[in-house]
Amino acid sequence: MTSNLTNPMNLNDSLDVLRRETVAAISEASDSETLAAIEAGAVGRESPIAAARRSLGKMAPEERRDAGRLINDVAKELEALVEERREELRADERAAKITAEAIDVTVDYTRLPQGRLHIIQQVMDEVCDIFVGLGYHIAEGPEAELAWYNFDALNTPPDHPGRLESDTMYLDYGKPEDEMLLRAHTSPIQARYMETHEPPVYIVAPGRAYRNDTIDASHLPVFHQIEGLAVDESIEFSDLKGTLAEFARQFFGSTTQVRMRPHFFPFTEPSAELDVSCFNCDGGESSCRVCKGVGWLEMLGCGMVDPNVFTAVGYDPEEVTGFAFGMGVERLAMVRHGIDSIRHFVDNDVRFLNQFPG
Ligand code: PHE
Repeated sequence: MTSNLTNPMNLNDSLDVLRRETVAAISEASDSETLAAIEAGAVGRESPIAAARRSLGKMAPEERRDAGRLINDVAKELEALVEERREELRADERAAKITAEAIDVTVDYTRLPQGRLHIIQQVMDEVCDIFVGLGYHIAEGPEAELAWYNFDALNTPPDHPGRLESDTMYLDYGKPEDEMLLRAHTSPIQARYMETHEPPVYIVAPGRAYRNDTIDASHLPVFHQIEGLAVDESIEFSDLKGTLAEFARQFFGSTTQVRMRPHFFPFTEPSAELDVSCFNCDGGESSCRVCKGVGWLEMLGCGMVDPNVFTAVGYDPEEVTGFAFGMGVERLAMVRHGIDSIRHFVDNDVRFLNQFPG
C-alpha cells in the first residue's frame, strides 16, 4: 500500500486507493495469519491510517473534522471486513480440521482369523475342571523322565516287557536312577508328587506320553494322558468306583453307567479297566456305530495303589491307602465325538479342527 494519506490535498483519493487495495487483499486472504498481516498493514499502529490520524493535528479545524470522519469511516469499514473474513476463515479451518481427523466408523477392517484351542487341549481342560470341582489339584512332571520314576518306583520289575526298546523310547542307558527315557505314561507324576508332598493327596496330572508305536487308526507314538491319584487314611475301592462314575456322568452325560473288569497293572492291586455305557445307543443297539453293538466303551485303567509304590516314595502303607487311574485323552475325545481315526488329531486339517470351536 503506497498511498500517502498525510497530505490533505489527496487524502480522499489516497483513502480510496487504500480502501480498494485492502478490500481486495482481505477477500483474497487464505488464512488467519495473512489476514492479521493485512489488518496491521492497513489499520494497525504503523499503518497509513494511523499516520493520517496523527497528521490531523496539523490541519485547520474545519478540514480536520471532515478528514477525521473520512479516515474513521474507511478504518471502520476495513475493520468490519477483516472481522467478517476472520470468521469465514475460522469456519473453514475448523471444517478442514474435522475432515482431516474424521474416523469413518462404517468402514469394515480386515479381520485376522482367530485361533482356537486344539480339541485335545479342550478335552484335557474339561477333564481337569471336573476333578478340580471334586477337590483335586493339578500336578505336572517332566516328559524326559528317569526310568526310576517311569518303572521302578511304580513297582515295575526289571524284566517287564514294557521296559523293552520295542515299547519305550530311551534317551540314555544306565541304572534306573540315571537312565533317561520319554515317559511311557503319566504315572511317574504320581511317584514324584508323593515323594515331595505329605498325604492326603488328591491330584490329576495331564500331559504327553510316548511309546514306540507305529501310527495307525488307534495309535500315535506321542499321545496324551490324564493321571489321577487319591491317597488318604481310609480310601476304599468303592471310592474309586464312585469317583469315576461321577466323572463319567459329568463328561458323557447324566445317565452314563460304569462297570469294572479285572485287569493288571504293576502299580495297582487290585487293578481294573473301567467301561462306560455307550452314550450313543444307551447300551442296546446292535447297529450302533460308536460301540458296535457291545453297549460298553473301554475307557481307562485304574486300581488301588500297590503298597510297594507307597514304600518306594516314602509313605507308610500301614497308614494310608489310595487309588489311581490313567486315561487316554485322544480316546476320550474319539469316543465322545465319534472320531474314527486318531490320526485326525495330528493331521492339522482345519476342516477337522474347526468342528471343535470350544
Ligand atoms: N499308566 C497306565 C497306562 O498307561 C494307566 C493307569 C494309571 C492304570 C493309573 C492304573 C492306575 O496304561
